[in-house]
Amino acid sequence: MIVTIDGPAGAGKSTVARRLASQLGYVFLDTGAMYRAVTYAALQAKIVMEDAAARLALVRGTSIELKGAVVSVNGEDVSEPIRTAEVTASIHYMADDPAVRELLVLRQREWAVGRNVVTEGRDQGTVVFPDAECKIFLTASAGERARRRQAERESEGETVSIDKIRAAQDLRDERDRSRTVGPLQKAADAIEVVTDGMMIDDVIASLEALVHKK
Ligand code: DC
Repeated sequence: MIVTIDGPAGAGKSTVARRLASQLGYVFLDTGAMYRAVTYAALQAKIVMEDAAARLALVRGTSIELKGAVVSVNGEDVSEPIRTAEVTASIHYMADDPAVRELLVLRQREWAVGRNVVTEGRDQGTVVFPDAECKIFLTASAGERARRRQAERESEGETVSIDKIRAAQDLRDERDRSRTVGPLQKAADAIEVVTDGMMIDDVIASLEALVHKK
C-alpha cells in the first residue's frame, strides 16, 4: 500500500510521515531529502547552478541512498548538511528543472516497488503515485507554520524574527505552488488535514485511522 502525504513547507509532514510509517510498519520515503541531496552534491561539485546540462549530468552521476533517517550521497552520510539554509536556498534550481524531476520521480517509483510506503513531498499524490490507495494533503495556516518554525529554531538556540521566517516561507510557498512541473497541489482524491491547533500525536492518530479505513 502507498500512502502519500503532500503539503507546504512547515506543515509537519516529515515528522508526521516518519512516525506514521513506523506505527504502520511501513517504510518512509522522504522525497524532499532527494532534492536536497542532489542540491548538496551540486554545491559541493561547484557546478554552475544555472546550467541545465550540468545539473542533469550531476543528478545522473549521483547515487542517493535513503535508509531510515540516514541520507547518503555517493556513499557519504549527508543527513545533516542537506538541511542547511544554503542548500534550502538553492533547491529551486533542481526542483524547477523538469529533466531533474523526471529522473527523481523514476527513482522514487523504483524505491517503492514491492514495499508498503508512506511517502512525503509536494507531488506524491498528483504525479509520482497517482494510483496511491491513501492520499493526504497535510497543511496548516501560514501563521501557524511560521510560529512552529520559529519555536523549532529557538529550541536549537537560534533567535530569528517571525517576519524573517514568514518572508522565507512565503517565497518557498510561491515557488512550490507555481513550478510548471510537479507543483504543490492537492490531488482531487486527497483528504485535506489542517493541523492548526492540533497536537502532533492527534494528527498521527487521525491519519492512522484514515489509512486503516482505506
Ligand atoms: O520537504 P523539504 O523541505 O525537505 O523539501 C525540500 C524542497 O524540495 C522544497 O523546497 C520543495 C522540493 N520538493 C519538491 O519539489 N518535490 C518533492 N516531492 C519534495 C520536495
